Amino acid sequence: MIAREDVIEALRAVQEPTLKRSLAEMGWIRDVVVREAGVSLTVVLHPDSLPQSNELERAIGEKLAKLQGAGTPHLRFRAMTEHEREALTKQAQPPAAGGAKAPRQAPVKGHGAGLEQTPLLHPDSKTEFIAIASGKGGVGKSTVTVNLAAALARAGKRVGLMDCDIYGFSVPDMMGIEERPEQVGNKIKPIERFGVKVISMGFFVEDNSPIVWRGPMLGKMLRNFFAEIDWGELDYLLLDLPPGTGDVALDVHQIIPQSKEIIVTTPHATAAFVAARAGSMAIKTNHEIIGVVENMAYYECGSCGKRDYVFGRGGGGKLAETLHTDLLAQFPLGTPDNHPSEPDFSPSVYKADTAMGREYGALADQVIARCGR
Ligand SMILES: Nc1ncnc2c1ncn2[C@@H]1O[C@H](COP(=O)(O)OP(=O)(O)OP(=O)(O)O)[C@@H](O)[C@H]1O
Ligand SMILES: [Mg+2]
Repeated sequence: MIAREDVIEALRAVQEPTLKRSLAEMGWIRDVVVREAGVSLTVVLHPDSLPQSNELERAIGEKLAKLQGAGTPHLRFRAMTEHEREALTKQAQPPAAGGAKAPRQAPVKGHGAGLEQTPLLHPDSKTEFIAIASGKGGVGKSTVTVNLAAALARAGKRVGLMDCDIYGFSVPDMMGIEERPEQVGNKIKPIERFGVKVISMGFFVEDNSPIVWRGPMLGKMLRNFFAEIDWGELDYLLLDLPPGTGDVALDVHQIIPQSKEIIVTTPHATAAFVAARAGSMAIKTNHEIIGVVENMAYYECGSCGKRDYVFGRGGGGKLAETLHTDLLAQFPLGTPDNHPSEPDFSPSVYKADTAMGREYGALADQVIARCGR
């Protein structure tokens, strides 16, 4: 099978129409995924170039057709974000005299021992950390995390997603990621999918074999996810926590005392009661709770629109009240209507132009409003 690099290489001669520069060289060919059905990718464009996307689609299609095994390409076009615009302006400026040295970094406060050189954890870092927690398993933390991450990226934010469920990682499968990260210099580059930079233990495990480390290794792994990954600059880093209030939640608190939290629950009273424990843990560790998300809140009949509250009612609202926070969203039951034959298939990410995609967009807007960036 052809590699991602082959695709980028094949497109080297294709220019951004307004800027007259190679899209590949600007790094504006994104989210390249190679599958048997075909290559899928995102093309970032200057807003003035969007009307020319049909011509570009043809030009890119012709280049890819020459690549054996590229199949039927699936292209998405989007305008550059504000950050991409800024990055472009920066690139255009001549480097400062004496070269662009990285500023010296002061050590971090707190207990992130050894992580002081990590820009994301520097006291001046502008990254907003949000851990997605719950009291019990299987309520939809990972589903909420991947969809909120994708929605924040669609809103133009620079987003990272750290799958902190070291034993029970699920994010790569849920987002339909098949490739593995590469090492560049002494850092590992996260995989970019739907505009989100993703890192998961699942990328480093062969054949889905079980992971047998205990306590201390877990914390070490989390630290590696900060120290050895080239995250670049991020507006948001979402952390998908394992269920419960175990070691990982404590490690997250030690490494990122400034992290905020979103608590996920089902509408069932018992689930909400158990989730309150995760919430009181957040309060104890001084993590600000952004709000509660009630998942699997109801089932809506496709033909008559009637709502059935299969798992009970009111758990999310009650939990929000207990934790003195707000209920941010109530998501119904229903998996995305994605098909494995689609080149950018992902089992768990709702598309932007679906009802659920829009609901996640609204959740992202609330998160942005509450975090003030
Ligand atoms: N709103 C929903 N409607 C239908 N299925 C859902 C919904 N939310 C989540 N699911 C499904 O429920 C299962 C559990 O969800 P998910 O893995 O997101 O939960 P989790 O809280 O992260 O679980 P764990 O505690 O094991 O990490 C998955 O199969 C997921 O696809
Ligand atoms: Mg999970």
